Amino acid sequence: MTDRRKLLVTSALPYANGSIHIGHLVEYLQTDIWVRYMRACGHDCLYFCADDAHGAPIMLRAESEGVTAEQLVARIGEEHRADFADFGIEFSNYYSTHSEENRLLASDIYQRLEQAGHIKNYPVAQAYDGEKGMFLADRYIRGGCPRCGAEDQYGDNCEVCGATYGAMELIEPRSVLTGSVPETRESEHYFFHLEDFQGFLAEWTRRGHLDDQVSNKIQEWFEGGLRDWDISRDEPYFGFRIPGTDNKYFYVWLDAPVGYIASYWNWLKQHQGDVTLEQLREQWAEREIHHFIGKDILYFHALFWPAMLKGAGYRTPEKVNVHGFLMVNGEKMSKSRGTFIQARTYLDHLDPEYLRYYFAAKLSNGVDDLDLNLDDFVQKVNSDLVGKMVNIASRSAGYIYKKMGGELAPALENPQLYAEFVQAGEDIGKAYEAREYSKVCRQVMALADRANQYLAELAPWSLAKQEGTEQQVAAIYSQAINLFRVLATYLSPILPVLAANSQEFLGLKQLDWVDLQTPLLSHRINKFKPLMQRVEPEAVAKMVAETRD
Ligand code: MSP
Ligand code: ZN
Repeated sequence: MTDRRKLLVTSALPYANGSIHIGHLVEYLQTDIWVRYMRACGHDCLYFCADDAHGAPIMLRAESEGVTAEQLVARIGEEHRADFADFGIEFSNYYSTHSEENRLLASDIYQRLEQAGHIKNYPVAQAYDGEKGMFLADRYIRGGCPRCGAEDQYGDNCEVCGATYGAMELIEPRSVLTGSVPETRESEHYFFHLEDFQGFLAEWTRRGHLDDQVSNKIQEWFEGGLRDWDISRDEPYFGFRIPGTDNKYFYVWLDAPVGYIASYWNWLKQHQGDVTLEQLREQWAEREIHHFIGKDILYFHALFWPAMLKGAGYRTPEKVNVHGFLMVNGEKMSKSRGTFIQARTYLDHLDPEYLRYYFAAKLSNGVDDLDLNLDDFVQKVNSDLVGKMVNIASRSAGYIYKKMGGELAPALENPQLYAEFVQAGEDIGKAYEAREYSKVCRQVMALADRANQYLAELAPWSLAKQEGTEQQVAAIYSQAINLFRVLATYLSPILPVLAANSQEFLGLKQLDWVDLQTPLLSHRINKFKPLMQRVEPEAVAKMVAETRD
Protein backbone atom coordinates (compact mmCIF):
# COMPACT_ATOMS: atom_id res chain seq x y z
CA MET A 1 0.00 0.00 0.00
CA THR A 2 1.67 3.17 -1.23
CA ASP A 3 -0.53 5.85 0.24
CA ARG A 4 -1.45 5.25 3.87
CA ARG A 5 -4.40 7.46 4.70
CA LYS A 6 -5.16 8.82 8.15
CA LEU A 7 -8.88 8.37 8.56
CA LEU A 8 -11.30 9.18 11.34
CA VAL A 9 -14.67 7.53 10.96
CA THR A 10 -17.81 8.02 13.04
CA SER A 11 -21.32 6.63 13.36
CA ALA A 12 -24.08 8.83 14.75
CA LEU A 13 -24.24 8.85 18.54
CA PRO A 14 -27.23 6.84 19.76
CA TYR A 15 -29.46 8.47 22.35
CA ALA A 16 -28.82 7.26 25.86
CA ASN A 17 -32.51 6.84 26.66
CA GLY A 18 -33.23 3.67 24.77
CA SER A 19 -31.89 0.34 23.60
CA ILE A 20 -30.12 -0.36 20.34
CA HIS A 21 -32.48 -1.98 17.83
CA ILE A 22 -31.91 -3.59 14.45
CA GLY A 23 -32.71 -0.29 12.69
CA HIS A 24 -29.72 1.33 14.40
CA LEU A 25 -27.59 -1.63 13.43
CA VAL A 26 -27.89 -0.80 9.73
CA GLU A 27 -25.68 2.17 10.46
CA TYR A 28 -23.18 0.67 12.89
CA LEU A 29 -22.70 -2.40 10.70
CA GLN A 30 -22.38 -0.31 7.56
CA THR A 31 -19.70 1.77 9.24
CA ASP A 32 -17.90 -1.14 10.86
CA ILE A 33 -17.62 -2.94 7.51
CA TRP A 34 -16.14 0.17 5.92
CA VAL A 35 -13.68 0.62 8.77
CA ARG A 36 -12.60 -3.01 8.62
CA TYR A 37 -12.08 -2.74 4.89
CA MET A 38 -10.00 0.42 5.24
CA ARG A 39 -7.91 -1.20 7.95
CA ALA A 40 -7.46 -4.27 5.72
CA CYS A 41 -6.02 -1.92 3.09
CA GLY A 42 -3.41 -0.85 5.61
CA HIS A 43 -4.85 2.61 6.30
CA ASP A 44 -4.62 4.17 9.73
CA CYS A 45 -8.35 4.17 10.41
CA LEU A 46 -9.87 5.18 13.74
CA TYR A 47 -13.55 4.67 14.48
CA PHE A 48 -15.31 6.74 17.13
CA CYS A 49 -18.72 6.83 18.66
CA ALA A 50 -20.37 7.71 21.97
CA ASP A 51 -23.70 7.88 23.70
CA ASP A 52 -25.70 11.03 23.09
CA ALA A 53 -26.46 11.69 26.72
CA HIS A 54 -28.14 15.08 26.95
CA GLY A 55 -31.63 16.50 26.52
CA ALA A 56 -35.06 16.63 28.10
CA PRO A 57 -36.17 13.05 27.31
CA ILE A 58 -33.21 11.61 29.19
CA MET A 59 -33.75 13.95 32.11
CA LEU A 60 -37.43 13.01 32.30
CA ARG A 61 -36.84 9.30 31.98
CA ALA A 62 -34.27 9.38 34.78
CA GLU A 63 -36.77 11.28 36.90
CA SER A 64 -39.49 8.72 36.28
CA GLU A 65 -37.12 5.89 37.19
CA GLY A 66 -36.05 7.70 40.36
CA VAL A 67 -32.39 7.81 39.38
CA THR A 68 -30.09 10.65 38.42
CA ALA A 69 -29.51 11.37 34.75
CA GLU A 70 -25.86 10.41 35.28
CA GLN A 71 -26.89 7.01 36.64
CA LEU A 72 -29.24 6.38 33.75
CA VAL A 73 -26.62 7.38 31.20
CA ALA A 74 -23.99 5.15 32.81
CA ARG A 75 -26.32 2.15 32.77
CA ILE A 76 -27.49 2.59 29.18
CA GLY A 77 -23.90 3.24 28.12
CA GLU A 78 -22.89 -0.20 29.40
CA GLU A 79 -25.81 -1.80 27.62
CA HIS A 80 -24.96 -0.11 24.32
CA ARG A 81 -21.30 -1.08 24.53
CA ALA A 82 -22.19 -4.74 25.10
CA ASP A 83 -24.69 -4.78 22.22
CA PHE A 84 -22.19 -3.28 19.80
CA ALA A 85 -19.35 -5.53 20.93
CA ASP A 86 -21.50 -8.62 20.49
CA PHE A 87 -22.27 -7.60 16.91
CA GLY A 88 -18.54 -7.38 16.25
CA ILE A 89 -18.52 -3.59 15.92
CA GLU A 90 -14.97 -2.48 16.65
CA PHE A 91 -14.85 1.10 17.84
CA SER A 92 -11.48 2.62 18.64
CA ASN A 93 -13.33 4.34 21.46
CA TYR A 94 -16.94 4.52 22.63
CA TYR A 95 -17.46 7.51 24.89
CA SER A 96 -20.23 9.76 26.17
CA THR A 97 -21.22 13.33 25.35
CA HIS A 98 -21.65 13.87 29.08
CA SER A 99 -17.93 14.12 29.62
CA GLU A 100 -15.42 16.74 30.64
CA GLU A 101 -13.73 16.62 27.24
CA ASN A 102 -17.03 17.33 25.53
CA ARG A 103 -17.86 20.18 27.89
CA LEU A 104 -14.51 21.86 27.17
CA LEU A 105 -14.82 21.30 23.43
CA ALA A 106 -18.41 22.46 23.12
CA SER A 107 -17.54 25.58 25.09
CA ASP A 108 -14.46 26.20 22.96
CA ILE A 109 -16.40 25.90 19.71
CA TYR A 110 -19.21 28.07 21.05
CA GLN A 111 -16.82 30.77 22.25
CA ARG A 112 -14.97 30.85 18.95
CA LEU A 113 -18.29 31.20 17.12
CA GLU A 114 -19.32 33.96 19.48
CA GLN A 115 -16.05 35.85 19.07
CA ALA A 116 -16.44 35.62 15.32
CA GLY A 117 -19.89 37.18 15.63
CA HIS A 118 -21.98 34.16 14.67
CA ILE A 119 -24.06 34.02 17.87
CA LYS A 120 -27.09 36.25 18.50
CA ASN A 121 -29.68 36.31 21.23
CA TYR A 122 -33.26 37.45 21.39
CA PRO A 123 -36.44 36.51 23.24
CA VAL A 124 -38.70 33.69 22.10
CA ALA A 125 -42.27 32.96 23.17
CA GLN A 126 -42.82 29.32 24.00
CA ALA A 127 -45.22 26.99 25.77
CA TYR A 128 -44.52 26.65 29.46
CA ASP A 129 -45.80 24.14 32.01
CA GLY A 130 -46.30 26.21 35.17
CA GLU A 131 -46.89 23.16 37.33
CA LYS A 132 -43.68 21.45 36.25
CA GLY A 133 -41.79 24.74 35.96
CA MET A 134 -40.48 23.85 32.53
CA PHE A 135 -40.63 25.01 28.92
CA LEU A 136 -42.27 22.41 26.73
CA ALA A 137 -40.96 21.13 23.43
CA ASP A 138 -43.75 20.37 20.92
CA ARG A 139 -43.73 16.66 21.64
CA TYR A 140 -44.73 17.36 25.25
CA ILE A 141 -47.95 19.07 24.24
CA ARG A 142 -51.06 17.42 22.87
CA GLY A 143 -54.48 18.67 21.88
CA GLY A 144 -57.01 18.89 19.04
CA CYS A 145 -55.84 19.60 15.50
CA PRO A 146 -56.72 23.20 14.61
CA ARG A 147 -57.45 22.20 11.03
CA CYS A 148 -59.40 18.92 11.09
CA GLY A 149 -60.31 18.73 14.76
CA ALA A 150 -58.75 15.29 15.33
CA GLU A 151 -58.22 14.79 19.05
CA ASP A 152 -55.02 14.16 20.95
CA GLN A 153 -52.47 15.27 18.36
CA TYR A 154 -48.85 16.28 18.95
CA GLY A 155 -47.87 19.91 19.27
CA ASP A 156 -46.36 20.35 15.81
CA ASN A 157 -48.30 18.26 13.33
CA CYS A 158 -51.47 16.24 12.91
CA GLU A 159 -51.15 12.55 12.19
CA VAL A 160 -54.65 12.51 10.72
CA CYS A 161 -54.67 15.38 8.22
CA GLY A 162 -50.95 16.19 8.06
CA ALA A 163 -51.36 19.85 9.07
CA THR A 164 -48.39 21.59 10.69
CA TYR A 165 -48.91 24.34 13.26
CA GLY A 166 -47.57 25.89 16.46
CA ALA A 167 -48.24 24.02 19.71
CA MET A 168 -50.31 26.83 21.18
CA GLU A 169 -52.69 26.72 18.20
CA LEU A 170 -53.94 23.29 19.32
CA ILE A 171 -57.52 23.09 20.57
CA GLU A 172 -57.35 22.72 24.36
CA PRO A 173 -53.62 22.09 24.55
CA ARG A 174 -52.41 20.02 27.49
CA SER A 175 -48.94 19.34 28.87
CA VAL A 176 -48.11 15.67 28.50
CA LEU A 177 -46.05 15.92 31.68
CA THR A 178 -48.69 17.19 34.10
CA GLY A 179 -51.95 17.47 32.16
CA SER A 180 -52.05 21.18 32.96
CA VAL A 181 -52.86 23.87 30.42
CA PRO A 182 -49.61 25.34 29.13
CA GLU A 183 -49.14 29.10 29.16
CA THR A 184 -47.05 31.16 26.75
CA ARG A 185 -43.88 32.63 28.21
CA GLU A 186 -40.99 34.58 26.84
CA SER A 187 -37.40 33.74 27.42
CA GLU A 188 -34.05 34.78 25.98
CA HIS A 189 -32.57 32.27 23.52
CA TYR A 190 -29.18 31.98 21.85
CA PHE A 191 -28.94 31.43 18.11
CA PHE A 192 -26.32 30.31 15.66
CA HIS A 193 -26.50 32.58 12.64
CA LEU A 194 -26.38 29.98 9.90
CA GLU A 195 -26.90 32.51 7.14
CA ASP A 196 -23.31 33.70 7.64
CA PHE A 197 -22.30 30.39 6.08
CA GLN A 198 -24.60 30.49 3.07
CA GLY A 199 -21.73 30.84 0.60
CA PHE A 200 -19.50 28.30 2.29
CA LEU A 201 -22.27 25.72 2.55
CA ALA A 202 -23.54 26.23 -1.00
CA GLU A 203 -20.09 25.21 -2.17
CA TRP A 204 -19.30 22.62 0.46
CA THR A 205 -22.48 20.65 -0.20
CA ARG A 206 -21.65 20.42 -3.91
CA ARG A 207 -17.95 19.63 -3.70
CA GLY A 208 -17.94 15.86 -3.30
CA HIS A 209 -18.50 15.78 0.46
CA LEU A 210 -21.95 14.31 -0.19
CA ASP A 211 -23.16 11.85 -2.78
CA ASP A 212 -25.16 13.44 -5.60
CA GLN A 213 -28.55 12.19 -4.47
CA VAL A 214 -27.99 13.79 -1.07
CA SER A 215 -26.45 16.96 -2.42
CA ASN A 216 -29.46 17.52 -4.66
CA LYS A 217 -31.85 17.09 -1.77
CA ILE A 218 -29.99 19.74 0.19
CA GLN A 219 -30.19 22.32 -2.54
CA GLU A 220 -33.93 22.54 -1.77
CA TRP A 221 -33.08 23.67 1.74
CA PHE A 222 -31.04 26.58 0.42
CA GLU A 223 -34.01 27.78 -1.55
CA GLY A 224 -36.03 28.04 1.65
CA GLY A 225 -33.26 30.24 3.14
CA LEU A 226 -31.02 29.33 6.07
CA ARG A 227 -32.70 30.28 9.29
CA ASP A 228 -31.13 30.99 12.69
CA TRP A 229 -30.62 27.85 14.74
CA ASP A 230 -31.83 27.98 18.34
CA ILE A 231 -28.98 26.45 20.34
CA SER A 232 -30.11 27.22 23.91
CA ARG A 233 -32.55 25.65 26.33
CA ASP A 234 -33.79 26.90 29.66
CA GLU A 235 -33.55 25.16 33.02
CA PRO A 236 -34.30 22.48 33.98
CA TYR A 237 -32.26 20.69 31.32
CA PHE A 238 -29.70 17.88 31.35
CA GLY A 239 -26.75 19.31 29.46
CA PHE A 240 -23.87 21.79 29.59
CA ARG A 241 -24.36 25.33 30.81
CA ILE A 242 -23.57 27.93 28.17
CA PRO A 243 -20.43 29.87 29.18
CA GLY A 244 -21.26 33.35 30.43
CA THR A 245 -24.84 32.48 31.44
CA ASP A 246 -26.18 31.06 34.67
CA ASN A 247 -29.36 29.34 33.55
CA LYS A 248 -29.02 28.57 29.84
CA TYR A 249 -27.96 25.22 28.48
CA PHE A 250 -26.67 24.07 25.12
CA TYR A 251 -29.41 22.39 23.12
CA VAL A 252 -28.45 18.68 22.90
CA TRP A 253 -27.77 18.92 19.15
CA LEU A 254 -25.11 21.58 19.75
CA ASP A 255 -22.87 19.35 21.84
CA ALA A 256 -23.85 15.99 20.26
CA PRO A 257 -21.65 16.13 17.13
CA VAL A 258 -18.91 17.73 19.21
CA GLY A 259 -18.96 14.35 20.95
CA TYR A 260 -17.22 12.88 17.89
CA ILE A 261 -14.18 15.02 18.64
CA ALA A 262 -14.47 14.41 22.38
CA SER A 263 -14.37 10.65 21.82
CA TYR A 264 -11.18 11.15 19.80
CA TRP A 265 -9.69 13.36 22.51
CA ASN A 266 -10.42 10.78 25.15
CA TRP A 267 -8.79 8.10 22.96
CA LEU A 268 -5.74 10.34 22.42
CA LYS A 269 -5.38 10.78 26.18
CA GLN A 270 -5.50 7.01 26.66
CA HIS A 271 -2.74 6.57 24.07
CA GLN A 272 -0.60 9.67 24.37
CA GLY A 273 -1.10 10.87 27.94
CA ASP A 274 -1.83 14.58 28.38
CA VAL A 275 -3.17 16.09 25.19
CA THR A 276 -4.14 19.75 25.28
CA LEU A 277 -7.08 21.22 23.40
CA GLU A 278 -4.60 22.88 21.05
CA GLN A 279 -2.88 19.58 20.29
CA LEU A 280 -6.22 17.91 19.80
CA ARG A 281 -7.22 20.54 17.23
CA GLU A 282 -4.01 19.83 15.35
CA GLN A 283 -4.52 16.07 15.41
CA TRP A 284 -8.15 16.41 14.35
CA ALA A 285 -6.92 18.46 11.38
CA GLU A 286 -4.52 15.69 10.36
CA ARG A 287 -7.28 13.22 9.62
CA GLU A 288 -9.85 12.77 6.85
CA ILE A 289 -13.16 12.74 8.66
CA HIS A 290 -15.90 10.40 7.41
CA HIS A 291 -19.30 10.48 9.09
CA PHE A 292 -21.97 7.80 8.68
CA ILE A 293 -25.54 8.87 9.44
CA GLY A 294 -29.18 8.12 8.69
CA LYS A 295 -31.17 10.39 6.41
CA ASP A 296 -33.23 11.79 9.32
CA ILE A 297 -30.26 13.69 10.72
CA LEU A 298 -28.89 15.05 7.48
CA TYR A 299 -29.69 18.70 8.18
CA PHE A 300 -27.55 18.62 11.31
CA HIS A 301 -24.59 16.96 9.61
CA ALA A 302 -24.63 18.67 6.24
CA LEU A 303 -25.44 22.22 7.33
CA PHE A 304 -25.09 23.00 11.05
CA TRP A 305 -22.07 20.82 11.70
CA PRO A 306 -19.79 21.89 8.83
CA ALA A 307 -20.78 25.50 9.52
CA MET A 308 -19.95 25.17 13.23
CA LEU A 309 -16.57 23.64 12.44
CA LYS A 310 -15.78 26.17 9.77
CA GLY A 311 -16.81 29.10 11.96
CA ALA A 312 -14.74 27.83 14.88
CA GLY A 313 -11.69 27.05 12.76
CA TYR A 314 -11.83 23.26 13.07
CA ARG A 315 -11.28 20.94 10.12
CA THR A 316 -14.53 20.20 8.29
CA PRO A 317 -15.57 16.66 7.28
CA GLU A 318 -14.28 14.98 4.16
CA LYS A 319 -17.47 13.03 3.67
CA VAL A 320 -20.92 12.63 5.13
CA ASN A 321 -22.32 9.20 4.15
CA VAL A 322 -26.08 8.86 4.39
CA HIS A 323 -28.18 5.70 4.52
CA GLY A 324 -31.90 5.06 4.44
CA PHE A 325 -34.17 3.51 7.04
CA LEU A 326 -34.76 -0.11 7.85
CA MET A 327 -38.13 -1.62 7.08
CA VAL A 328 -39.05 -5.12 8.23
CA ASN A 329 -41.21 -7.30 5.98
CA GLY A 330 -41.93 -4.21 3.90
CA GLU A 331 -43.30 -2.10 6.73
CA LYS A 332 -42.06 0.26 9.41
CA MET A 333 -40.67 -1.58 12.43
CA SER A 334 -43.52 -2.19 14.83
CA LYS A 335 -43.81 -3.54 18.31
CA SER A 336 -47.21 -5.12 17.71
CA ARG A 337 -46.02 -6.97 14.62
CA GLY A 338 -42.96 -8.13 16.56
CA THR A 339 -40.56 -6.38 14.21
CA PHE A 340 -39.22 -3.67 16.53
CA ILE A 341 -36.41 -6.07 17.33
CA GLN A 342 -33.81 -5.03 19.87
CA ALA A 343 -30.17 -5.89 19.34
CA ARG A 344 -30.16 -8.02 22.49
CA THR A 345 -33.27 -9.96 21.51
CA TYR A 346 -31.68 -10.76 18.17
CA LEU A 347 -28.48 -11.90 19.90
CA ASP A 348 -30.43 -14.19 22.20
CA HIS A 349 -31.69 -16.13 19.17
CA LEU A 350 -29.43 -15.65 16.18
CA ASP A 351 -25.81 -15.38 15.08
CA PRO A 352 -24.78 -11.74 14.47
CA GLU A 353 -22.91 -12.78 11.33
CA TYR A 354 -26.23 -13.53 9.62
CA LEU A 355 -27.41 -9.97 10.04
CA ARG A 356 -24.04 -8.52 9.06
CA TYR A 357 -24.25 -10.45 5.82
CA TYR A 358 -27.90 -9.76 5.13
CA PHE A 359 -27.56 -6.01 5.63
CA ALA A 360 -24.42 -5.96 3.51
CA ALA A 361 -26.24 -7.83 0.76
CA LYS A 362 -28.93 -5.14 0.87
CA LEU A 363 -26.82 -2.01 1.28
CA SER A 364 -25.79 0.34 -1.48
CA ASN A 365 -24.52 3.89 -1.14
CA GLY A 366 -27.96 5.38 -1.73
CA VAL A 367 -30.45 6.76 0.77
CA ASP A 368 -33.29 4.42 -0.16
CA ASP A 369 -34.84 2.46 2.67
CA LEU A 370 -33.85 -1.17 2.89
CA ASP A 371 -36.06 -4.10 3.72
CA LEU A 372 -35.32 -6.93 6.08
CA ASN A 373 -37.67 -9.63 4.88
CA LEU A 374 -37.44 -12.35 7.47
CA ASP A 375 -38.17 -15.26 5.10
CA ASP A 376 -35.68 -13.93 2.60
CA PHE A 377 -33.18 -13.51 5.45
CA VAL A 378 -33.31 -17.21 6.29
CA GLN A 379 -33.23 -18.24 2.68
CA LYS A 380 -30.41 -15.93 1.62
CA VAL A 381 -28.08 -16.64 4.51
CA ASN A 382 -28.54 -20.38 4.14
CA SER A 383 -28.16 -20.40 0.41
CA ASP A 384 -25.27 -17.91 0.08
CA LEU A 385 -23.18 -18.53 3.14
CA VAL A 386 -23.85 -22.11 4.09
CA GLY A 387 -24.84 -23.47 0.67
CA LYS A 388 -22.29 -21.67 -1.47
CA MET A 389 -19.41 -20.34 0.58
CA VAL A 390 -18.84 -22.82 3.37
CA ASN A 391 -19.73 -25.69 1.07
CA ILE A 392 -16.56 -25.14 -0.97
CA ALA A 393 -14.41 -25.75 2.07
CA SER A 394 -16.48 -28.51 3.62
CA ARG A 395 -16.54 -30.58 0.40
CA SER A 396 -12.79 -30.32 -0.01
CA ALA A 397 -11.33 -30.49 3.46
CA GLY A 398 -12.00 -34.16 4.25
CA TYR A 399 -9.90 -35.61 1.48
CA ILE A 400 -6.94 -33.36 2.16
CA TYR A 401 -7.12 -34.11 5.84
CA LYS A 402 -7.63 -37.86 5.59
CA LYS A 403 -5.67 -38.78 2.50
CA MET A 404 -2.98 -36.10 2.36
CA GLY A 405 -2.23 -35.74 6.05
CA GLY A 406 -3.67 -32.21 5.88
CA GLU A 407 -1.17 -31.01 3.31
CA LEU A 408 -2.30 -29.11 0.22
CA ALA A 409 -0.94 -30.05 -3.21
CA PRO A 410 2.41 -28.56 -4.32
CA ALA A 411 0.84 -26.86 -7.37
CA LEU A 412 -2.53 -25.41 -8.35
CA GLU A 413 -4.66 -27.51 -10.65
CA ASN A 414 -5.89 -24.35 -12.45
CA PRO A 415 -3.61 -21.33 -11.90
CA GLN A 416 -5.61 -19.29 -14.41
CA LEU A 417 -8.81 -19.65 -12.38
CA TYR A 418 -6.97 -18.71 -9.21
CA ALA A 419 -5.54 -15.63 -10.90
CA GLU A 420 -9.03 -14.58 -11.96
CA PHE A 421 -10.26 -14.84 -8.38
CA VAL A 422 -7.38 -12.68 -7.17
CA GLN A 423 -7.93 -10.19 -9.98
CA ALA A 424 -11.59 -9.78 -8.96
CA GLY A 425 -10.34 -8.28 -5.69
CA GLU A 426 -9.73 -4.98 -7.39
CA ASP A 427 -13.39 -4.39 -8.24
CA ILE A 428 -14.54 -5.81 -4.94
CA GLY A 429 -12.24 -3.41 -3.11
CA LYS A 430 -13.60 -0.46 -5.05
CA ALA A 431 -17.13 -1.53 -4.22
CA TYR A 432 -16.27 -1.63 -0.50
CA GLU A 433 -14.78 1.82 -0.57
CA ALA A 434 -17.84 3.17 -2.40
CA ARG A 435 -20.13 1.51 0.19
CA GLU A 436 -21.60 -0.69 -2.55
CA TYR A 437 -21.72 -3.73 -0.32
CA SER A 438 -24.56 -5.38 -2.23
CA LYS A 439 -22.21 -5.38 -5.19
CA VAL A 440 -19.46 -6.92 -3.05
CA CYS A 441 -21.80 -9.73 -2.04
CA ARG A 442 -23.03 -10.30 -5.58
CA GLN A 443 -19.50 -10.50 -6.93
CA VAL A 444 -18.29 -12.82 -4.19
CA MET A 445 -21.30 -15.09 -4.65
CA ALA A 446 -20.72 -15.21 -8.40
CA LEU A 447 -17.17 -16.37 -7.64
CA ALA A 448 -18.48 -18.91 -5.14
CA ASP A 449 -20.79 -20.26 -7.85
CA ARG A 450 -17.79 -20.65 -10.12
CA ALA A 451 -15.81 -22.47 -7.47
CA ASN A 452 -18.69 -24.88 -6.89
CA GLN A 453 -19.12 -25.31 -10.61
CA TYR A 454 -15.41 -26.08 -10.88
CA LEU A 455 -15.80 -28.85 -8.35
CA ALA A 456 -18.93 -30.18 -10.00
CA GLU A 457 -17.26 -30.32 -13.39
CA LEU A 458 -14.09 -32.03 -12.25
CA ALA A 459 -15.97 -34.24 -9.81
CA PRO A 460 -12.93 -35.23 -7.78
CA TRP A 461 -15.11 -37.56 -5.68
CA SER A 462 -15.70 -39.76 -8.77
CA LEU A 463 -12.12 -39.48 -9.87
CA ALA A 464 -11.02 -40.69 -6.47
CA LYS A 465 -12.67 -44.05 -7.12
CA GLN A 466 -10.11 -44.82 -9.80
CA GLU A 467 -6.62 -46.08 -9.06
CA GLY A 468 -3.64 -43.74 -9.18
CA THR A 469 -5.58 -40.47 -9.23
CA GLU A 470 -4.61 -39.42 -5.75
CA GLN A 471 -2.32 -36.52 -6.75
CA GLN A 472 -4.83 -35.20 -9.25
CA VAL A 473 -7.71 -35.37 -6.79
CA ALA A 474 -5.64 -33.64 -4.14
CA ALA A 475 -4.74 -30.91 -6.62
CA ILE A 476 -8.43 -30.26 -7.40
CA TYR A 477 -9.44 -30.10 -3.75
CA SER A 478 -6.43 -27.91 -2.99
CA GLN A 479 -7.49 -25.59 -5.77
CA ALA A 480 -10.95 -25.34 -4.22
CA ILE A 481 -9.52 -24.61 -0.81
CA ASN A 482 -7.37 -21.88 -2.29
CA LEU A 483 -10.43 -20.36 -3.94
CA PHE A 484 -12.26 -20.54 -0.64
CA ARG A 485 -9.44 -18.68 1.04
CA VAL A 486 -9.74 -15.84 -1.48
CA LEU A 487 -13.49 -15.56 -0.88
CA ALA A 488 -13.21 -15.70 2.92
CA THR A 489 -10.67 -12.89 2.69
CA TYR A 490 -12.99 -10.81 0.51
CA LEU A 491 -15.86 -11.23 2.94
CA SER A 492 -13.79 -10.68 6.07
CA PRO A 493 -14.91 -7.04 6.63
CA ILE A 494 -18.52 -8.28 6.57
CA LEU A 495 -17.99 -11.63 8.34
CA PRO A 496 -15.15 -11.30 10.86
CA VAL A 497 -16.07 -14.47 12.75
CA LEU A 498 -16.31 -16.62 9.64
CA ALA A 499 -12.97 -15.11 8.63
CA ALA A 500 -11.37 -15.96 11.97
CA ASN A 501 -12.71 -19.53 11.83
CA SER A 502 -11.54 -19.91 8.25
CA GLN A 503 -8.13 -18.58 9.14
CA GLU A 504 -7.83 -21.21 11.80
CA PHE A 505 -9.02 -23.95 9.50
CA LEU A 506 -6.52 -22.82 6.87
CA GLY A 507 -3.70 -22.76 9.41
CA LEU A 508 -2.88 -19.11 8.69
CA LYS A 509 -1.70 -16.32 10.95
CA GLN A 510 -3.82 -13.82 9.05
CA LEU A 511 -6.28 -13.51 6.19
CA ASP A 512 -4.78 -10.61 4.36
CA TRP A 513 -5.65 -9.29 0.89
CA VAL A 514 -2.03 -8.71 -0.08
CA ASP A 515 -1.12 -12.33 0.73
CA LEU A 516 -3.56 -13.65 -1.88
CA GLN A 517 -0.97 -13.17 -4.61
CA THR A 518 0.69 -16.29 -3.24
CA PRO A 519 -1.51 -19.40 -3.22
CA LEU A 520 -1.23 -21.94 -0.43
CA LEU A 521 0.91 -24.78 -1.76
CA SER A 522 2.27 -27.73 0.21
CA HIS A 523 0.73 -25.95 3.16
CA ARG A 524 -0.74 -27.72 6.14
CA ILE A 525 -4.39 -27.02 7.00
CA ASN A 526 -6.33 -28.01 10.08
CA LYS A 527 -9.20 -30.39 10.60
CA PHE A 528 -12.42 -28.91 9.25
CA LYS A 529 -14.99 -27.81 11.79
CA PRO A 530 -18.33 -26.46 10.56
CA LEU A 531 -17.63 -22.79 9.85
CA MET A 532 -21.21 -21.62 10.15
CA GLN A 533 -24.56 -23.12 11.18
CA ARG A 534 -27.72 -22.85 9.11
CA VAL A 535 -30.30 -20.29 10.22
CA GLU A 536 -33.24 -22.05 11.80
CA PRO A 537 -36.57 -20.45 10.84
CA GLU A 538 -37.84 -21.44 14.33
CA ALA A 539 -35.23 -19.18 15.92
CA VAL A 540 -36.49 -16.25 13.84
CA ALA A 541 -40.06 -17.02 14.85
CA LYS A 542 -39.10 -17.11 18.53
CA MET A 543 -37.33 -13.77 18.23
CA VAL A 544 -40.41 -12.19 16.67
CA ALA A 545 -42.70 -13.70 19.31
CA GLU A 546 -40.48 -12.42 22.10
CA THR A 547 -40.47 -8.94 20.54
CA ARG A 548 -44.25 -8.91 20.35
CA ASP A 549 -44.92 -9.51 24.03
N1 MSP B 1 -28.54 11.15 18.91
C1 MSP B 1 -28.83 11.40 17.54
C2 MSP B 1 -27.57 11.44 16.70
C3 MSP B 1 -26.54 12.42 17.16
S1 MSP B 1 -25.12 12.36 16.14
C4 MSP B 1 -24.21 13.66 16.61
C5 MSP B 1 -29.74 10.31 17.00
N2 MSP B 1 -29.77 9.16 17.71
S2 MSP B 1 -30.65 7.89 17.31
O1 MSP B 1 -30.38 6.91 18.33
O2 MSP B 1 -32.01 8.26 17.12
O3 MSP B 1 -30.13 7.37 15.92
C6 MSP B 1 -28.78 7.01 15.74
C7 MSP B 1 -28.55 6.65 14.28
O4 MSP B 1 -29.31 5.49 13.96
C8 MSP B 1 -29.01 7.75 13.31
O5 MSP B 1 -28.08 7.94 12.27
C9 MSP B 1 -30.30 7.22 12.76
O6 MSP B 1 -30.56 7.64 11.44
C10 MSP B 1 -30.04 5.71 12.79
N3 MSP B 1 -31.28 4.98 12.85
C11 MSP B 1 -32.21 4.97 13.87
N4 MSP B 1 -33.25 4.20 13.51
C12 MSP B 1 -33.04 3.69 12.27
C13 MSP B 1 -33.73 2.81 11.42
N5 MSP B 1 -34.92 2.31 11.73
N6 MSP B 1 -33.14 2.49 10.24
C14 MSP B 1 -31.90 2.94 9.89
N7 MSP B 1 -31.23 3.77 10.67
C15 MSP B 1 -31.80 4.21 11.83
O7 MSP B 1 -30.34 10.50 15.96
ZN1 ZN C 1 -55.64 17.40 11.52
